[in-house]
Amino acid sequence: MTALSKEALVARADELLPQFEAAVADIPPEAGFGGVWESEMFLFYAVVRPLAPKQILESGRARGKSTLMLAKCFPDARIVSVELDRDTENARAAEAKLKPHAHVDLLYGDSRALMLQGLQHGDAVLIDGPKDFRAMKLAVDLLATGKPSVVFVHDFPKGSGVRCFAEKNWPGVLFGDDPAFAKFRAIDAARDPRPADARKGYGVFAIFPPGLPQPKWRLRLKMFFAEIFSAFR
Ligand SMILES: C[S@@+](CC[C@H](N)C(=O)[O-])C[C@H]1O[C@@H](n2cnc3c(N)ncnc32)[C@H](O)[C@@H]1O
Repeated sequence: MTALSKEALVARADELLPQFEAAVADIPPEAGFGGVWESEMFLFYAVVRPLAPKQILESGRARGKSTLMLAKCFPDARIVSVELDRDTENARAAEAKLKPHAHVDLLYGDSRALMLQGLQHGDAVLIDGPKDFRAMKLAVDLLATGKPSVVFVHDFPKGSGVRCFAEKNWPGVLFGDDPAFAKFRAIDAARDPRPADARKGYGVFAIFPPGLPQPKWRLRLKMFFAEIFSAFR
């Protein structure tokens, strides 16, 4: 994949939605713990499914909500999930949830070190921790290798420093809050038993196509200043 076409993505979504819904149907809703929404994971599915990656790398597992959806949606891919915090209630919940899925590897450590080691050509990547510019730096490091087919990074709300940085410097980037994807949120109503006004807090994915739009050194320099600017804003 060289570019992300929003139009092509929306066009194939209707065909892919029943597959996605069937894949996640037997996951019991776990309302109130946060994590990536089902509609956001559907966006990941609609982009990544046609790429048929052999491996999917995830950074930031927490209770394993997104990891379990990856496991169910991509049974033929190896899922490598990296989480910083071990020996926590969340870590134990994720381990229990993912135990039946032999194609999922649960690693502990800092993904900024571990992910580069495990990255293979064609991998799809989902980063949901670290956050903000630390996540952006990790995405740049991974994309600079030329290996990922796509990198999703969670939590790019409109107006945030890191979102402004991506908007200014990444011509091909897409965002999960694009009005073209708004209809996908209907999936959440079926998955989360709470009333609609309690279902807030969309993190917003940034979706980066392969490669870098500028040399890495220039992006890192711009990120350095953007982060300082954002801290003082
Ligand atoms: C929002 S939670 C992830 C939620 C999960 N993706 C889901 O949908 O349920 C963020 C997680 O990222 C982890 N994290 C933060 N920095 C990290 C790093 N450098 N490497 C690996 N995990 C990290 C945190 O410990 C936390 O558990």
